[in-house]
Amino acid sequence: MPSPITGTVEHTPIPAPSLPMIPIARPLIGEEEQEAVRQVLASGALVQGKRVAEFEARFAEAVGVRHGVAVSNGTLALWVALLAHGVGPGDEVVTSPFSFIASANAALYVGAKPVFVDIDPDTYTLDPDAVREAITPRTRAILPVHLYGGMADMDRLTAVADEHSLVVVEDACQAHGAALHGRRAGSFGTGAFSFYPTKNITTAEGGIVTTNDDRVAEQARLLRNHGQRERYLHETLGFNFRMTELQAAIGLVQLGYLEKWTERRIANASYLSGRLAGVRTPVVRPDSRHVFHQYTIRVAAERRAAFIQRLTSLGVGTAIHYPRPIHKQPVYEKMGFVDRLPVAERAAQEVISLPVHPAVSPSDLERITGAVHAALEA
Ligand SMILES: Cc1ncc(COP(=O)(O)O)c(C=O)c1O
Repeated sequence: MPSPITGTVEHTPIPAPSLPMIPIARPLIGEEEQEAVRQVLASGALVQGKRVAEFEARFAEAVGVRHGVAVSNGTLALWVALLAHGVGPGDEVVTSPFSFIASANAALYVGAKPVFVDIDPDTYTLDPDAVREAITPRTRAILPVHLYGGMADMDRLTAVADEHSLVVVEDACQAHGAALHGRRAGSFGTGAFSFYPTKNITTAEGGIVTTNDDRVAEQARLLRNHGQRERYLHETLGFNFRMTELQAAIGLVQLGYLEKWTERRIANASYLSGRLAGVRTPVVRPDSRHVFHQYTIRVAAERRAAFIQRLTSLGVGTAIHYPRPIHKQPVYEKMGFVDRLPVAERAAQEVISLPVHPAVSPSDLERITGAVHAALEA
């Protein structure tokens, strides 16, 4: 019996009900995860025990950093990362408006102000020139998002951060295994990952903070466990952000498959990019590994609704990541955010994500390609 950790056997997901659609995302949960969960339940040790410790060590190793601090989800990983760096009231955090809302909310949770700057139109990641222009005496942190699994321009962003002594917190929630110049996402600054079911690997809910900074790791460990190093001795104001052993057990199995599943995502993306004509396909930053959490194309805004309808009728699932930039969300508008960020605003009207996950088969890929061409001709 091969170790569930090394993932040397073909993962056998529990069959999905026959789906009329090629789904946009599908968590791959198999017998190994079920068995791992059964073992935890039988052990009676349910929260933050040896499996969490092992998951943290193995994930940190995969990222190439000294510490992994597991928490309950990716949103909390971002929050804990900023808190552990001491980012707080009066501080500004420069971040992307084109992301899931949690990226910017993390700044609000710590009492800081998110400062939105525009994105690069090809990679959808923070524009380093715009970041530089947004720096004020109050800026404490840059929070780039490796959106869709593609790396932000960490060369230039870390240069800006170094020049101004800023903290870098990477939102790597979509970027497990992504790399730039061979260096993994989550190792340039302090990283925050999510293991939500649609992510490249899952623990149902789950998250982790990755860092090489011993002090940040120590703070993060205190924060996620009510400020206690020693039981019932609370050194600082903390929270219950702990990961369960059930989540870690699932995560350890999934981690064994991360490389293989990532290669499949990359191969699927490469097939699609090789055959899709007439739409803008994803741009991969030079010398980087894009892990295709999403495969996102662009069509003209006025055609998008009909395009999606046609794909749906042809059995191809789609999603829009994201239909409204964060600064245009009602909750941000109510807080008085009035930015004009035309690149992000335009992308929000034009992007469409297509299925790229490891369960997409060669025949699915053919169907997706055919459907996109049919939708273009309509
Ligand atoms: C870019 C990004 N940031 C943050 C999060 C938050 O992660 P979670 O859903 O695990 O809280 C997600 C995922 O949902 C995400 O995609």
